[in-house]
Amino acid sequence: MCGIFAYKGQKTNAAQLVVNGLKKLEYRGYDSWGIAFKTGHKVSIYKEIGKIGEFDISTLKEKVDGPINGHMAMGHSRWATHGGVTQENAHPHYSQDKTIAVVHNGIIENFEELKTELKEKGYKFRSETDTEVISHLIQKYKSLGPVDAVKKALSRLRGRYAVLVLCAEDDRLIAARRGSPLIVGKGENEFFIASDIPAFLEYTRKVMYLDDNQMVVINNDAEFFDLETNKKIDKRIVKIDWSPESAEKGEFPHFMIKEITEQKETIARAINQDEKQFMKIANEIKNAYGTYLVGCGTAGKVCLTGSYLFAKIAKRHVNVTFGSEFPSLQDFITDRSLVIAVSQSGETADTLEAIEVAKGKKAKVLSIINVEGSSMDRISDYAINIKAGPEKAVASTKATTAQLAILTLLAYALDNRLEEGKILLVNTASQINDMLNPRYEDHILNLAKKIKDVESMYVIGKGVNYPIALEAAIKLQEVSYIHAEGFAGGELKHGPIALINDGVPCVVIVANDETKQETISNAIEVKSRGGYIIGIAPENNNIFDYWIKVPEVGEASPIVNIIPIQILAYQLAILRKNNPDMPRNLAKSVTVK
Ligand code: M6R
Repeated sequence: MCGIFAYKGQKTNAAQLVVNGLKKLEYRGYDSWGIAFKTGHKVSIYKEIGKIGEFDISTLKEKVDGPINGHMAMGHSRWATHGGVTQENAHPHYSQDKTIAVVHNGIIENFEELKTELKEKGYKFRSETDTEVISHLIQKYKSLGPVDAVKKALSRLRGRYAVLVLCAEDDRLIAARRGSPLIVGKGENEFFIASDIPAFLEYTRKVMYLDDNQMVVINNDAEFFDLETNKKIDKRIVKIDWSPESAEKGEFPHFMIKEITEQKETIARAINQDEKQFMKIANEIKNAYGTYLVGCGTAGKVCLTGSYLFAKIAKRHVNVTFGSEFPSLQDFITDRSLVIAVSQSGETADTLEAIEVAKGKKAKVLSIINVEGSSMDRISDYAINIKAGPEKAVASTKATTAQLAILTLLAYALDNRLEEGKILLVNTASQINDMLNPRYEDHILNLAKKIKDVESMYVIGKGVNYPIALEAAIKLQEVSYIHAEGFAGGELKHGPIALINDGVPCVVIVANDETKQETISNAIEVKSRGGYIIGIAPENNNIFDYWIKVPEVGEASPIVNIIPIQILAYQLAILRKNNPDMPRNLAKSVTVK
């Protein structure tokens, strides 16, 4: 939610670097954007509604009063929370006297009361945002000096934030975090600060993670402080192994199709784990007294799939819930419980809250994440990195299947059959490699052309593929904007079948397992009511109006079954002229509650 990028260093085109950085972070929020840049003793702000897209920095000169070259700038790409999508509400936000500019990601819970207090003191608000209280508060405490004024202002805030501050009278870049991600990149005599690593990968792979309640003050060097104790902190520099190219579209028109295609390699990479550590984690699951799988959105559907995989492969019961629902179930958590958090970003606020609740009960936490060094990676007792590489399209694809691969492997490890699981998944990876080719994509494109104008579509699955039907519906909703819903096949007759009429597309996921016959019967029920049956299965069946073949991979069927639906969703988005990488109203990483 919201992307932040800042530069301080020897280069004089800081504003340009920030605009470029924001373009790379736009997947985090794209309803408006803005930059603040320092020239001499002046902080200038420029902001716009809409996507930063192809914004050309050379046009900035005509749009702002005064010079634009300088060594320090910061910017923000917004996903609106408080206040509509307007230029006034876009970040950065000035203080009353325009000597301080602030960008912020997160939510300030007590902003109403702070706003009332500041208004009474004569501060005039230009926006409806919660953020603006921060810039005015810093001005209020200005006499303390910039760093202490920021500290004092932050001490007044309740809620989550990643905040960056530029002051006209000071040459330092000040940043702090509590609950929203912020990472410092260290180059040669220059520093970058961003919400996510891909934004500065082309300049440096050396990073320093800001933890909650920490501040960094950047001048010629970066000094870190603990906001609670006021003590200095020595930060370790971590070297990131993502390449700059991995975060670019390359020859692909969109990140979504690039990331779908990368599934040719990502499954094999995901399962390449340190076996000793993997077995240790499997033993933690074995020994836990109550295990909860927790995730949101697609990751939540992966968790539900995991519960079926653990039951089927390892005969092991695990509980499942969404991150946002976990606090309501906390009474069952003890110091012997294990919470398994699944998250691509490792920064989703609802999942992080679940972890905080679990830790509060002294439960152990295992995180399955894609972003190394993310909050979940760092606060968990154990972490498994799914190694999918940067995922930038809002709709998750390669991270989803890599998470599914890890949960499948964990289920085998739990049953002391790690090697068998590995062989299955290596074979699955190779089948996916064969499956993903232009002919396959064209076959799905033909289907997309047939159904592109429908109002609604449904997806059904059974057993371990029931959560895959739910995930399929999310993919279709997110990027095609077609009303799509997923159901357990057996549930249709209990209500949803009333929705079926002539020509309504119904995707039926038919695995070659004990659920096959019943799922086919469910498809017959839909077809008898006029439904158009799209079968996703290793074998064709008379009942299918359109068949999309998937390889036969036994217990790994959820991994291969979701891929054709990812392709279908992408192609529907293109045919319906939607931007699949940045779907409306969504953001890649949901760091607010
Ligand atoms: O980063 P996370 O995996 O924790 O994100 C969770 C959800 O926000 C995410 O899966 C969301 O549902 C995706 N846009 C789905 O494609």
